[in-house]
Amino acid sequence: MKKLLLTFSIVASLFANNDLRFNQKYSIKTIEFEGKIYKIRAYENIPYVKNIIDKDYQSFNFYILDENDDKKLQKAPIFLPNFIGGYRSAKITYIDDKSPFTQASLKALSNGYAVILAGFRGANNIKDGEYFGKAPASIVDLKALVRYLHFNDDLMLGDANKIISNGTSAGGAMSLLLGLSQNTNDYDEYLEKLGAAKADDSIYAISSYCPITNLENADMAYEWQFNDNYDYKTLKFSDMVDFRKKREFVTGKLNEEQIRESKKLAKDFVAYLNSLNLVYKGKKLNLNDDLNGSFKDYLTEILGADLNITRSKITLAFDKADLSSAENELFGDNTTKANHFSQNYESKTDKKLVDLMNIMNYLNNDKAAKFIRIRVGKLDSDTSFAISAIVALKLMENGFNVDYKLVDGVGHKGDYDLDELFAWIDEVVQENN
Ligand code: DHB
Repeated sequence: MKKLLLTFSIVASLFANNDLRFNQKYSIKTIEFEGKIYKIRAYENIPYVKNIIDKDYQSFNFYILDENDDKKLQKAPIFLPNFIGGYRSAKITYIDDKSPFTQASLKALSNGYAVILAGFRGANNIKDGEYFGKAPASIVDLKALVRYLHFNDDLMLGDANKIISNGTSAGGAMSLLLGLSQNTNDYDEYLEKLGAAKADDSIYAISSYCPITNLENADMAYEWQFNDNYDYKTLKFSDMVDFRKKREFVTGKLNEEQIRESKKLAKDFVAYLNSLNLVYKGKKLNLNDDLNGSFKDYLTEILGADLNITRSKITLAFDKADLSSAENELFGDNTTKANHFSQNYESKTDKKLVDLMNIMNYLNNDKAAKFIRIRVGKLDSDTSFAISAIVALKLMENGFNVDYKLVDGVGHKGDYDLDELFAWIDEVVQENN
């Protein structure tokens, strides 16, 4: 009896300590995809850090087909979508909760992939009057989760060396940042504080739809693209920016002051773009003082962008004077709802923090994920096409395998081309076998 009690208390204390080791207990669920029924193993509600702040946002579910071939299950690539939108939090998602965003995961499961559906903190998280998901919380949580998967690769089915991350908009930006900033120490102090597993944080491949990134330069890029294009069709409420929400619009025209600012920012973008020294097929991409040039030709002639679509954002598009944007809220802190973050304002967030969210600082990391797929709809006016083009061009120049396209007839959304997405994933996971 005594021995039993002792055993009990050891087990209980292990549990209380949360040693971050994976519990292999699962239940069986059934899913339906394209008219077929599949039986899957469901491992649910697993915290991925020791010092949990809120389990809805720092736990995950793990799913894989229920098959007998253990060897095959061990080798299954792991599909890791994040449902981060508007730089807001994403609550843990269940495969059977009928979310419209789980289609890609159902497809992954039916293809024999393992799937992780996790929660991540974001700018809107608040508890007892304190914010707990401001920058860089979402990317830190993603990294902590990936570390957990490597730390437990021996106990979990699926192959932690074949993680494919996927996201849209703010989540597309986080997907890129996850794979491009891997193996740096820049986020360590935050991971340490969370009690993240001490393990590798690397993923294998990146899928990103319409990434909203390079935030501190996005205002300039926006006014460059939409110069002389002053009629707008903007969101009725600022929180509708989150791609997960239904959008309603109001129309109008920029006022004189906004037009003045727009002209100045467009000029500033020319200097910024030229400072990047972009190259495509050995040819330099530039802009002239009249806002035209080879970089613009690349967008229109090579990518097929129509730069005359209607703007959806009012000048300034991202770092707003009244601090009302999703990005302003991202850069708040524990007690501050929102802050400025760009050179357009004197008082702003610490540059170090803004840098932790900006992909531009991680485009030449030789330990980054090597396979990158980026898609942006040609009707998407949430950010300038220049933003994703700059990222793709720099990555290509630095030797990455980049599949980058603008897609006809598509607005601000993701996961609309699942057959092509999975054809790409199937191909890249074969590369290092
Ligand atoms: C998202 C969209 C935006 O226009 C933006 O500025 C930030 C985030 C999104 O859908 O995630």
